[in-house]
Amino acid sequence: TPAEVIRNFCIIAHIDHGKSTLADRMLQITGVVEQRQMRAQYLDRMDIERERGITIKSQAVRMPWDVGTTAHVLNMIDTPGHVDFTYEVSRSLAACEGAVLLVDAAQGIEAQTLANLYLAMENDLTIIPVLNKIDLPAAQPEKYAEELAGLIGCEPEDVMRVSGKTGEGVEELLDRIVAEVPAPVGEAAAPARAMIFDSVYDTYRGVVTYVRVVDGSLSPREKISMMSTKATHELLEIGVISPEPVPSQGLGVGEVGYLITGVKDVRQSRVGDTVTGAGRMAEQALGGYKDPRPMVFSGLYPIDGSDYPILRDALDKLKLNDAALVYEPETSAALGFGFRVGFLGMLHLEIVRERLEREFDLDLISTLPNVVYQVQLDDGTEVEVTNPSEFPGGKVASITEPVVRATILAPSEFIGSIMELCQSRRGTLKGMDYLSPERVEMRYTLPLAEIVFDFFDALKSRTKGYASLDYENDGEQVADLVKVDILLQGDTVDAFSSIVHRDKAYAYGVMMAGKLKDLIPRQQFEVPIQAAIGSRVIARETIRAIRKDVLAKCYGGDISRKRKLLEKQKEGKKRMKMVGSVEVPQEAFIAALSQD
Ligand code: GTP
Repeated sequence: TPAEVIRNFCIIAHIDHGKSTLADRMLQITGVVEQRQMRAQYLDRMDIERERGITIKSQAVRMPWDVGTTAHVLNMIDTPGHVDFTYEVSRSLAACEGAVLLVDAAQGIEAQTLANLYLAMENDLTIIPVLNKIDLPAAQPEKYAEELAGLIGCEPEDVMRVSGKTGEGVEELLDRIVAEVPAPVGEAAAPARAMIFDSVYDTYRGVVTYVRVVDGSLSPREKISMMSTKATHELLEIGVISPEPVPSQGLGVGEVGYLITGVKDVRQSRVGDTVTGAGRMAEQALGGYKDPRPMVFSGLYPIDGSDYPILRDALDKLKLNDAALVYEPETSAALGFGFRVGFLGMLHLEIVRERLEREFDLDLISTLPNVVYQVQLDDGTEVEVTNPSEFPGGKVASITEPVVRATILAPSEFIGSIMELCQSRRGTLKGMDYLSPERVEMRYTLPLAEIVFDFFDALKSRTKGYASLDYENDGEQVADLVKVDILLQGDTVDAFSSIVHRDKAYAYGVMMAGKLKDLIPRQQFEVPIQAAIGSRVIARETIRAIRKDVLAKCYGGDISRKRKLLEKQKEGKKRMKMVGSVEVPQEAFIAALSQD
């Protein structure tokens, strides 16, 4: 296909603003999917995605669209919709020349829309502003057209109005994409360069890699090379998705499609990498490649220790599918054998955990998640800490923690309580703009550790659900952090060690000690629970000793009841873990680690 008739675009939208519905409608209007075979949300494939209503993996669909007598090809590239996957979003955007900025006409702009809009602008995409759901009685197109126009610097009349549900305005939108989004430009005669914007593991076919050709062309059976790893593979199949994979004779400048080389692991075909011909290699890779970097770590342990090999195999399988997943074996005195696992963020963690439990039938305990700290010691060495219990013992000179740049959008009446919240999370206000008299955009720098776990919930509850949030990594900062240990009768319980800001150490210690006091049953002896920074105890609780033994009330009573009690006690013992000389039921660990 000649590049002049190609248009590559994506849709950027906040969750629930109707991206999938609009995409489905486009597939139907362009005849790619017959109405009667139309599956709801064609683009979202994974079950978990569908259940949670989010898009994790991006995909691309090719659609024919004629304007006048000229046949055009539209490639719609789907973008994932969550902060954990910002890098994948940025690569999807980099594969496009245009973006449809889709905003719910009853809701207005949200933080995620803004964050993705900024990314699109950084990539120099042509932006087409569109209000969706104009069929809704609650729609306020006038008001939000104004808001959108103000934001991107166009006239309110330039903001299109569509309904993905009824199809109104969608043909006009397709025409406008052809008219306004520039055709791709590249060097047809140059050595091939194609950017990988997605890479998905398929049980039957191995890894399916989605690419956008920038220069040159790729054809079936040729040898290709990945520029970051220099690995070469034979191109077994190449084609386009429309809406199922259709093999083709190759892909040229500006084209978007998939390729299959038979590799079995997405790590061999990484998002952001450049594919070139092994016979005629490009000199320079396309810009923007980054290795996925895990931001949040947590220990994962099987509740039943004998499931450890199943957990190991399950992680090995998930890894084929997920280039960002990293893990290594770890042992905990309290929890036994498990893994320290790195994730892009909390959603990524939840997805992996849920898949392990659902697809591999595992029951798991996860330790409190933590971010990655860099610890500089007095002797000049630097240690990366992904597990608080491995915090170095030497003299610490300084500790750095990751920070994010956060964008919060909310009705202006909530400014005060948002500021209060951000302050309590060690945030620094960087800027504030009014999108309209009633809506404000606030920009903050915040420590990742303060935002990643429950910040969004706190924000929602302070703003009656009206605020939206997005953030991206913004380097590191030095902070006054300490490691708090929890001790049972003088022995540290590794699973409960945590790195927290000095001002919050006391609160953490009191909270954990209090929780454990309620969760650990009394023993034959008194058990002190302490929270400590190094050797300094900052909080203390005591579990008093048992006075009566279990059989006391059975004296003189019937023998079979006595035996039953003994058996019950034995059963209970199997699920006990010893910390020093203290017996702790496994449930106590699970309950103490649960985050509510
Ligand atoms: P994520 O995949 O979670 O990002 O959501 P999405 O943006 O893809 O939204 P989706 O298409 O799933 O639509 C969200 C909700 O809005 C669904 O309940 C849709 O039925 C509804 N919806 C989408 N488009 C329209 C529309 O044009 N009019 C009306 N009335 N409802 C719509």
